[in-house]
Amino acid sequence: MTSPLPPYVAAHTPTGLLIGGEWRPASGRGTFPVADPATTDVLFEVADATPEDGRAALDAACAAAPAWREVAPRARSEVLRAVFEAVVARTEDLAALITAEGGKPLAEARAEVQYAAEYVRWYSEQAVRVDGLARRAPAGTHHQMVLRRPVGPALLIAPWNFPIAMITRKVAPALAAGCPVVVKPARLTPLTTAYFAEIVREELEARDLPTGVLNVVPTASSGDVSAPLLADPRLRKLSFTGSTEVGRTLLKQAADGVLRTSMELGGNAPFLVFDDADLDAAVEGAVAAKMRNSGQTCVAANRFLVQQGVAAEFTDRLSAAFERLVMGRGTDPDVTVGPLIERSAVDHVEDLVAEAADAGARVRTGGERPGRRGWFYPPTVLDRVPPDARAVQEEIFGPVAPVVTFGDEAEGIRLANATEYGLVAYAYTRDVGRAMRLAEEVEAGMIGINRGMVSDATAPFGGVKSSGLGREGGEAGIEEYLEPVYVAL
Ligand code: SIN
Repeated sequence: MTSPLPPYVAAHTPTGLLIGGEWRPASGRGTFPVADPATTDVLFEVADATPEDGRAALDAACAAAPAWREVAPRARSEVLRAVFEAVVARTEDLAALITAEGGKPLAEARAEVQYAAEYVRWYSEQAVRVDGLARRAPAGTHHQMVLRRPVGPALLIAPWNFPIAMITRKVAPALAAGCPVVVKPARLTPLTTAYFAEIVREELEARDLPTGVLNVVPTASSGDVSAPLLADPRLRKLSFTGSTEVGRTLLKQAADGVLRTSMELGGNAPFLVFDDADLDAAVEGAVAAKMRNSGQTCVAANRFLVQQGVAAEFTDRLSAAFERLVMGRGTDPDVTVGPLIERSAVDHVEDLVAEAADAGARVRTGGERPGRRGWFYPPTVLDRVPPDARAVQEEIFGPVAPVVTFGDEAEGIRLANATEYGLVAYAYTRDVGRAMRLAEEVEAGMIGINRGMVSDATAPFGGVKSSGLGREGGEAGIEEYLEPVYVAL
């Protein structure tokens, strides 16, 4: 198979560790392979950080911390603005990397670069808007002043499904707030992160700013590198995006050091379609909410809860829309659905579909692993799915849409809330009163009303219940890296 990477990109993608502003091999000289999920071909061998490398990265972050917190907010803002512009200028290179290691169709990869750049632009703007407070105490005895200090060195652990957007969403507010960072990118997609990190390093160096504020330690042994860092008293903050299961383990480790944590964890998003919905819009929104990155996002619609009066028509139309999607290698311009990330992801989706079918669900389209190279699974619609099927109860993380019907609004809301998760919910209705009731009653950190996409760098992203703690993006995102300090005068 031909490499999906343009030669310039292949030649300029760092494959080492970034520590203290320098790219270097892992201390044990080990590497791990990064493969193209569309072909399973190995693209690169990447340096495999050891626990000692993790510690060296934290040493570098701590060494850069005093200088970085002294850098004027305007200067932090300007370097981030330059990074934003460089990322936009290098959209094609970054998109090629995202497609190569993550499998996304190129158009989606470009959209991810744009989304990622928006986080950098937004936090370049927020860097100069960190407010404090000054007021007379109500008792009249003194004045209260509240300052905002950077929390301190932060460990940022990112997932594979958005190899630049989930990095910028953490790195940009951290740097804007004055915190140096150690980034652990995902084992499956470290290349895009490395290319982005080199952009940041160049822009810092060009301004004579401390390059040790951004350190990157890819590793195939995540827990071995992160556990000692979480136990190190110099670390003050953990930001993690990934599964609830791993998030729980990290939270327990972070508890010993009483770290500030931001946890963006799993989801099981309900997508409610009411009888009064605009069905054209609902189907379009359903495809967007389900099929972005082949269903591999934590905000993917996981359960389609459809009111009885429109269930048959919605399901027919959704199946037809899925059949129009083109599955294949992301570099092909006609392709709208790429592969899943690895073999285990396909096995998982296949098991969920088989179990649902055994329990009485009907496969309306898709449902069979194609006999081709790469980790592909087709867009699949299931109806008559029993509400207790694993495909409804668990996060699917793949291109499968299970449809469950409900009677009245109260039942729809009850089903929507019948999960331990609460990241996002989607609802289609023309009734504004109902939309407001849903906004009040559905247990989720984000609610899309007549929209299949809520993600926006300028809005607070995050969940309730087992979907996480804290918010990323918007005004809230930078707060996660700031400590209020109350001064009584
Ligand atoms: C995620 O899947 O973790 C994030 C998706 C998004 O930001 O839209």
